[in-house]
Amino acid sequence: MHVSVLLDEVLAYLMPADKSVARVIDGTLGAGGHAAALLERGAGEVLGIDADPVAIQRAGEVLRPFGNRAHIAHDSYLQMAEHAAALGWSGVDAILLDLGVSSMQFDTPERGFSFRFDAPLDMRFDPAGGGTTAADLVNTLDEREIADLFYKYGEDPDGRRHARAIVQARPLHTTGELARVLEKASPRRYDEKIHPATRAFQALRIAVNDELGAVERVLPAAIDLLNPGGRFAVISFHSLEDRIVKDAFKLAATECICPPQFPVCICDHHASVRLLHKKPIIANEAEIDANPRSRSAKLRVIEKL
Ligand SMILES: C[S@@+](CC[C@H](N)C(=O)[O-])C[C@H]1O[C@@H](n2cnc3c(N)ncnc32)[C@H](O)[C@@H]1O
Repeated sequence: MHVSVLLDEVLAYLMPADKSVARVIDGTLGAGGHAAALLERGAGEVLGIDADPVAIQRAGEVLRPFGNRAHIAHDSYLQMAEHAAALGWSGVDAILLDLGVSSMQFDTPERGFSFRFDAPLDMRFDPAGGGTTAADLVNTLDEREIADLFYKYGEDPDGRRHARAIVQARPLHTTGELARVLEKASPRRYDEKIHPATRAFQALRIAVNDELGAVERVLPAAIDLLNPGGRFAVISFHSLEDRIVKDAFKLAATECICPPQFPVCICDHHASVRLLHKKPIIANEAEIDANPRSRSAKLRVIEKL
């Protein structure tokens, strides 16, 4: 079961009492928890998008009670403008992205996201959509490329050691095989809080789905699609993603981006949004106790000028 993270906070920011919210895009529909709550709170219509066909099916059941107020598209959130246009929407009042994997995906062994199970090394959000699997990456990249990938996307302190062990042990076909190789290649640390395979698995998942590239590209596109006064909320789950969101929001909220030593402005850059809070919004202790996944969640929200 997937429990929607920072739900009260998302509703408070996207559905403030003084705004009428007619059209909403949920670009990471998942099990439909946030979308259903937005519709219950009075959003006129929600367009929900997800790359994962299983999520689409589940969300379809969850959103059925809302009839034609809920529109569902199986696609990447990068196509949100096209799906909005197909509904005749030239702009929207709110957009939500709740990034990363859902518990539904993580807890389904055959998706290959978790080393808790032994299953094929897949990790694609859309398994029928073609593209590279985690098995393709570990079996074809050279040692340096694997080490760089683990370092860049997983901040894996044992990335180099892990890469060497993988190259020596391959071909690798399952999550269990990979987890055992990583475990054997990891030095014992007495203060270890996370499993030695955690960071490498995160790195592979991010690479397989080009998660950071997608976030970079969707942010300006989503801002463009907002009506004046419309709000955009993004929940991220690790620092690499949060940095991209933070920097893109800051840039969009900045009037002039000329170097400070320039006597006059020549950049022609204008702020298109305002930041609605200074620090990222995080889960309170009660939510973290009830749903440990929320511990690493960070919410950032902007409003279109
Ligand atoms: C954390 S879950 C969302 C959970 C949802 N908010 C809920 O309340 O149930 C993230 C979802 O985003 C989807 N996703 C990730 N990247 C995507 C992309 N580029 N395009 C569309 N969906 C994507 C995943 O398939 C997953 O279902």
